[in-house]
Amino acid sequence: MDSQSYALGDLGAAVLSICLEATSLGLGTCILGLYERERLRELLDISRDKHFAGLISVGYPASDKIRPKIRKQMEEIVRFI
Ligand SMILES: Cc1cc2nc3c(=O)[nH]c(=O)nc-3n(C[C@H](O)[C@H](O)[C@H](O)COP(=O)(O)O)c2cc1C
Repeated sequence: MDSQSYALGDLGAAVLSICLEATSLGLGTCILGLYERERLRELLDISRDKHFAGLISVGYPASDKIRPKIRKQMEEIVRFI
């Protein structure tokens, strides 16, 4: 695994930690990767020497209800060895 791969793993762990902490504070989050990058760079004043990989929107959930979700069974996506 090269250093770039570690960076991506670290990034995923950091994003998840932020989302979990926000949830523990009663906030809701959504991880976003699709947006107009140039417009966002201008809007948030992100300089060209900074790379950004994603965005996490944070806010108060409109409802406590969790929408129905279609999930694969754990056995389909995880193999314990
Ligand atoms: C790296 C990453 C980028 C994402 N980008 C978007 C996005 O641009 N737009 C979007 O609607 N959902 C995006 N998602 C998906 C949502 O954040 C969320 O995971 C998805 O809606 C499933 O939500 P749920 O777990 O509550 O069902 C992204 C997820 C990840 C992990």
